[in-house]
Amino acid sequence: MEKHANFGSRMGAIFAAAGSAVGLGNVWRFPMEVGNNGGAAFILVYLLCILLMGLPIMVSEFVIGRHTQSNMIEAFRRLAPGRWWRFIGILGILAAFVILSYYIVVSGWTLYYTYSSFSGVLMDKDTDYGVFFGNFVANPWLSVLFAAFFMLLAHIVISRGVQGGIEKCSKVMMPVLLLIIGLLVLCAFSMPGIDEGLRFLLKPDFSKLTVSAVLSAMGQAFYSLSLAMGCLCTYASYFGPKTRLMSSAASVAAIDTFVAVLSGFIVFPAVFSVPDVEANAGPGLVFQTLPYVFNMAFDSVPWLGYLFSGMFYILLFLAALTSAISLHESVTAYVHENWHMSRKKAATLVSVSTMSLGVICSLSFGVLSGWTVFGMNVFDLFDSVSSKIMLPIGGVLIALFVGWYLDRKLVYMEVTNNGTLSERLFGVLMFLIRWVAPIAIMSMFVKGVMEML
Ligand code: PHE
Repeated sequence: MEKHANFGSRMGAIFAAAGSAVGLGNVWRFPMEVGNNGGAAFILVYLLCILLMGLPIMVSEFVIGRHTQSNMIEAFRRLAPGRWWRFIGILGILAAFVILSYYIVVSGWTLYYTYSSFSGVLMDKDTDYGVFFGNFVANPWLSVLFAAFFMLLAHIVISRGVQGGIEKCSKVMMPVLLLIIGLLVLCAFSMPGIDEGLRFLLKPDFSKLTVSAVLSAMGQAFYSLSLAMGCLCTYASYFGPKTRLMSSAASVAAIDTFVAVLSGFIVFPAVFSVPDVEANAGPGLVFQTLPYVFNMAFDSVPWLGYLFSGMFYILLFLAALTSAISLHESVTAYVHENWHMSRKKAATLVSVSTMSLGVICSLSFGVLSGWTVFGMNVFDLFDSVSSKIMLPIGGVLIALFVGWYLDRKLVYMEVTNNGTLSERLFGVLMFLIRWVAPIAIMSMFVKGVMEML
């Protein structure tokens, strides 16, 4: 049998996993959730969710992936032969497939906005950004073309393999992404709305903290850390024996949270710099409100506006690409390992089939907008079903599997690298995995289902 692939270094492994976690969820979804749920108080709850629920599940996925050295479906088959636990793996890979098909659509938008920023179209004073966005997503050719181009980039990286593709690209893109974020934060600090932006982000107003906000924080933590989709499990199968699972998970979660919070530091000072713009503009915040904000905020120095906006959308693009790669890899690894296909063939099959679904998602903003289920177009349906149903179910099952089914000794040996590390927190970790995470996720699930009905 072919030797299982490995990341070349511990740093490479952390960058790759952080690349999966840092995505549109951090730069697009997080500021939107913070804006909708009242700012600082939401961020505090979010941090708690990362610690109490996100980290334990991430370590669980690492344990499963590294121990079995295989993709998610195969991993469960090996750990629990012949039992229905394998369903968790199938669900995870299916979720990755569905999410990837709509993720590439939004990722395509980031490419188009980068292009439009630098070409100056986006900064034209007379542009109505709502109409601009609406026309773009409804244009069947343009949006599909940009999504396909994005898919092609992800495809090339995946075809080059684990070390030559995924690891290499994460090691270049993650530092660039962090650098761009740093520059944008510096720019944001020179904006007139900085005081108000900071107050919004740092001064908690607990009166805005509803039960629904708490559950949204939980959902956001889950999505942002890329849990329950086989991505982290698959990446962990490429970890070497010396990689420390707990500290790697802590680093990934720290980088992910850092980028999310810094994105808030970029978006809100900008939003508060322009009168009549609300912080709770919802999903349109990044594609409809922000271009307007960049335009107004840099009214007197237009070239800075071009630059700020261009860099912001490159940031979104880079974040999206590393995440899409991990979703792609989760599915490709399965096809490659279990269907005995070469990596290149497996990657092509996955790229072509997700792109076909992606076309439908993309067209659901235009010609196919009439295709609805429960009042949602295909894009919204894929988003809701995957993040509100598939992920929570997968997450609970992973926690129950590692907490209650797997031999505690096996988990201990993985977490301590065969007893060579002392892990004083192991007992706490197991308590979180057995009790706190499943109960928290179940409540998220109930909320998600109630919202959909
Ligand atoms: N974590 C990514 C983000 O924040 C999204 C993602 C989810 C990526 C699941 C991979 C798997 O955008």
